[in-house]
Order: sequence, then C-alpha cells, then structure tokens
Amino acid sequence: MNIAIDGPAGAGKSTIAKKLAKEMGFIYVDTGAMYRAMALYFLKQNLDSSNETEISAAAQAIDISICYQNGEQQVILNGENVTGEIRNEEVGNMASSTSVYPSVRKKLTSLQQKLADSTNVIMDGRDIGTCVLPNAEVKVYLTASVTARAKRRYDELQEKGEECSLEAIQTDIEERDYRDMHRDISPLKQAKDAILLDSSNLTIAQTAEAIQKICQERM
Ligand code: DC
Repeated sequence: MNIAIDGPAGAGKSTIAKKLAKEMGFIYVDTGAMYRAMALYFLKQNLDSSNETEISAAAQAIDISICYQNGEQQVILNGENVTGEIRNEEVGNMASSTSVYPSVRKKLTSLQQKLADSTNVIMDGRDIGTCVLPNAEVKVYLTASVTARAKRRYDELQEKGEECSLEAIQTDIEERDYRDMHRDISPLKQAKDAILLDSSNLTIAQTAEAIQKICQERM
C-alpha cells in the first residue's frame, strides 16, 4: 500500500509525511533528499548545473541508497552518509536545477519504485503521484501560498539563528516553483486522481489530520 504526497517546496510535505508514517507504521521515503544528495556530489565536483553532458556523465558514477537509523531516513552517497549536508539552499537549488535531466530522474525514479515494491511507503516529492507511483492508493497534492511557505522557512531559519531575508526566501521559492513546474520531464503538477490540500491556514496537526482522513476514506 502506498501513499504519494506531492507539492511545491515548503508546503510541509516532509514534516507531515514523517508524522503520518510513524502513526501509520509506514516507511517514509523523502525523494527530495535523493535529488539533494546527487546535487551535493555535483557541487563537490564543481560542476555547472547547465552542462547536461557533464551532469549526466557524473550521474552515472553516483551510487545513492537510503537506510534508516532510529526510524529516520539516511541518504548514502557513494558509501558516505550525507544526510547532514543536504539541507541548505545551495544544495536545494542545485537539486532543482539538475532534476530536469533525464539521466538524473531515471536513476532515482527506478530506485524509488524498487523501495515501494517491497514495503508500504509514504513517499513525498514532485512526481510521485504522476510518475513514480501512478497506482498509489492515496495521492495528495499538498500546497500553500508562496507567502505562507516563505514565512515558514523564514521562521525555521530564525529559530536556527541563521540570518535571512523574508523577501529573498520568497524570491527563491518562486524561482524553484517555476523550475519544478515547467521542466519538460515529470514536472510538478497535481495528478488527476490526487486530492488537493492547501495548508496555508492549517497547523501541522490539522494538515496531518486532514490527510489521515483522506487515507481512511481511500484505504
Ligand atoms: O523536496 P526538496 O526541496 O528536498 O527537493 C529538492 C529538489 O529536488 C526540488 O526542487 C526538485 C527535485 N525533486 C524532484 O524533481 N522530484 C522529486 N520527486 C523530488 C525532488
């Protein structure tokens, strides 16, 4: 049994999916983390995101896998656990820019499908309901306004004591949305059979509750 949650950056997908996976006894698969791990490799190699030939050649040399420690997903890049290195704007933007290439998508899509074959998963990303798991029993398109998403990210960074500007975060989110929604292959869009949920005015608990209700109705 599989649950697919897609949506733009900052809509709360991973927070909600993690919470639900724990409550429902499913394995949580964060596919964005896999694109980020690849992006980290490209950055470490000083590759230019617009050079498809170089990126594709490098993608072939990358081995990505995931494992779980205390229930938390860990991403292993060429044998090294890089989970702690992938959560920053530079890696996120590189992931968004390089996820447009077929070589990158093909590799990760097949890994994601294999994971879902062997166990019940809640998987979040951009193309889960449309491409990776088209037969998922439950599909949710989780979104929120750009201002709500930027504010959440701003609060998160403030809490960590990192300096940031709300305006810059909003611009960054708008650019990422545009790239993710307008690429040629598997762009971010709501699957025809996905349920739309706008979390702009919902708390994490309310959003999780709404998705749990959808799951109960569909499963
Ligand atoms: O969810 P995230 O912010 O960690 O994802 C980083 C980037 O990876 C996102 O901007 C686009 C890409 N991505 C993708 O193309 N397909 C997915 N299923 C997940 C992420």
